[in-house]
Amino acid sequence: MTTIPERVFSGVQPTGNLHLGNYLGAIKKFVALQESHDCIYCVVDLHAITVWQDPAELQQNIREVTAAFIASGIDPTKHIVFNQSQVSEHAELAWVFNCVARMGWLSRMTQFKEKAGKDREKASVGLFSYPTLMASDILTYRATHVPVGEDQKQHLELTRDIAQKFNNDYSDRIAQLDLGVPMQVGDEHVNGYFPLTEPIIGGPAARVMSLRDGTKKMSKSDPSDLSRIVMTDDADTIAKKFKKAKTDPDALPSEIEGLKDRPEADNLVGLYAALSDTDKASVLGEFGGAQFGTFKPALADLAVDRIGPIANEMRRLMDDHTHIDAILADGSEQARAIARKTLADTKEIVGFIGAR
Ligand code: TYM
Repeated sequence: MTTIPERVFSGVQPTGNLHLGNYLGAIKKFVALQESHDCIYCVVDLHAITVWQDPAELQQNIREVTAAFIASGIDPTKHIVFNQSQVSEHAELAWVFNCVARMGWLSRMTQFKEKAGKDREKASVGLFSYPTLMASDILTYRATHVPVGEDQKQHLELTRDIAQKFNNDYSDRIAQLDLGVPMQVGDEHVNGYFPLTEPIIGGPAARVMSLRDGTKKMSKSDPSDLSRIVMTDDADTIAKKFKKAKTDPDALPSEIEGLKDRPEADNLVGLYAALSDTDKASVLGEFGGAQFGTFKPALADLAVDRIGPIANEMRRLMDDHTHIDAILADGSEQARAIARKTLADTKEIVGFIGAR
């Protein structure tokens, strides 16, 4: 618990192939949280270049993620939408956090191990320190809540570890400068500067799996196009991908327990539940006993119905670069105003001169 006012922050990488997992696991939740919270949503272009990006494609992808935010229902006139590289405070705070985080902590990050693969020597230094930049994204705004898919859980735990170590290492200085806010750490009440952020993870689409292999997560970088539904897929492509989705030969069960050890069936039922705003039990109540020959077309129709209008609006928005770029410039200015204050405080806490 912290007494810092609640604020939501999250980010999406502009690395192309924005898919149904990104939408259902993250963006759809971003939209819902606007009703109850002040929200800041970021296109994390600095993170994107931890692996090679073609510059022209990167620009296109930054605009595409921004368009996906807006087309999904994020309102940039009420909340902040911007791209990370326009607010240089993220990179500055990340440097301070690079000096707080320990090599051992970062070495344990499973995403680094997966992305670096066997040849770690060839991974960029940025890929290794990726999570400290992510902690900086969140803590630049002293955000209290972060909606993400399940794959980001470990990074959010690291963010809490960094905040806690910073608060602890500099506790005397934070108190001296009167910059602390009361917060609870375990059973203890302490005064800290950075909040211990809560992840918002859950629902039937917290981990959407590949359509080709129910044990692998749906991902932008899977070499098979058939493994994912991309936000801009047309109706025929969506129908084809679901038709070809891997399944087992049995009918759908009537109870959740029947999905155990059936990862592909579990995934498709989860997708139906998330797209129709219900839970897996209700989907099985409707489709229990049905064959995939019946269920897959129903799922494809539902996906087209929910994704189609977003894709159309994304295309319309992406035709107008000036409009998208103006949204990002305006959002960045608002973000910078908050970020400056956090950086000035942080520099003063650390002991730099001339922070204000
Ligand atoms: P990224 O760009 O890989 O993914 C964006 C969001 O989509 C979620 N997601 C999924 N959810 C369910 N099923 C899936 N198969 C799936 N694949 C992706 C991700 O969990 C994420 O929420 N490190 C982040 C970007 C980031 C960030 C941040 C997020 C940078 N700074 C600060 C939150 C706060 C990432 O790579 O997301």
